[in-house]
Amino acid sequence: MVHIAEHVEIRLLRDEDFEAVAAIYRANFPDVPLSASEVREQYRRFDERRFAREWVIAEERGGQAVGYGFHAHLPWSFHPEKYQLFVAVHPRSHRRGIGTALMRYHLDRLGARGATRVKSWAREDHAHAVAFLQRFGFEEHARTFESRLAVACVVLAPFAAYTRRAEEAGVTFTTLKDELRRDPHCLAAVYQAHCTLDIGAPREDPDPPTPPSFERFVEDEVRHPQALLDAFFLAKKGDLYVGESALKRSESDPGVLWQQLTGVLPEYRGTGIATALKLRTVEYAQVMGYREIRTFNSSRNAPMLAINTKLGFARQPAWIDFIRELRA
Ligand SMILES: CC(C)(COP(=O)(O)OP(=O)(O)OC[C@H]1O[C@@H](n2cnc3c(N)ncnc32)[C@H](O)[C@@H]1OP(=O)(O)O)[C@@H](O)C(=O)NCCC(=O)NCCS
Repeated sequence: MVHIAEHVEIRLLRDEDFEAVAAIYRANFPDVPLSASEVREQYRRFDERRFAREWVIAEERGGQAVGYGFHAHLPWSFHPEKYQLFVAVHPRSHRRGIGTALMRYHLDRLGARGATRVKSWAREDHAHAVAFLQRFGFEEHARTFESRLAVACVVLAPFAAYTRRAEEAGVTFTTLKDELRRDPHCLAAVYQAHCTLDIGAPREDPDPPTPPSFERFVEDEVRHPQALLDAFFLAKKGDLYVGESALKRSESDPGVLWQQLTGVLPEYRGTGIATALKLRTVEYAQVMGYREIRTFNSSRNAPMLAINTKLGFARQPAWIDFIRELRA
């Protein structure tokens, strides 16, 4: 337990804290649906056998959680000396030095772990959070755009030529649900394609991506409680999976679908496959009565941003990635 201000202390996260963590996050980002069970699920999925992390709560003496923070390795781009760090304070308690105390706590812990680099992030419309990170020596490294599509407004017919073009090139479209029915052993090939597509996608992290293990892929993309196998669209050329675009549902907002990876193998790009896959995701959302698809794209991913703009996705404030080098 670390004493940080007259009435506030930092202690390790406990299982009963997820409600408070989600509430503090939502109070800062009211437009982002996030439930306690989604945070718990994210926390549970972190592989503590392979990666290090620490989550803490800033608590008032009466037991009220007023902030939280964590640092952790980046499982999707693992380097033993490089970490992510995020702190959040309930807006009621902003500007009382609690964010500073959480940040100092984590920077000390990272120093003890021998970390050489840490990344964090803030939303561009939160000038206070940007100022906060800059004050600690973090520098902007990259931007990610969130875009949202009101699916009811999309007229799909004008885009039919993309699907036609892909089909004329011998590409067929299916879903993971149908593929599993056709061949229960297809997951190994879907996994292989997924890793290749993921590595090929432009990203903000300066280090190369770390592909998930097969077991982790199955747990995160196939057996995940929010995975939708009939909304996991695949493009095939013969037996080869050449593209994918998948959606997950949101637990806290039943009207929202979260876009997962969309990718096409480099040698099959430029033939309409990505747009044809995305059209299927929009059609799925329309038929199943969802309100909105939300997606995140690296500012470096011009092709994907162009497809989303074409379909009518509306750009939201960017998330800025910050990096701080910790020692030479
Ligand atoms: C960023 C955040 C954690 C800061 O928490 P906080 O407890 O209010 O921060 P502090 O009181 O310790 O403020 C530290 C410094 O940050 C900067 N800062 C904080 N709020 C600011 C504001 N509204 N305007 C300008 N600068 C601000 C100032 O430099 C401030 O020092 P000062 O008060 O001496 O001027 C908080 O705004 C938050 O929870 N935001 C949402 C989560 C988030 O975006 N986190 C990103 C950073 S990891």
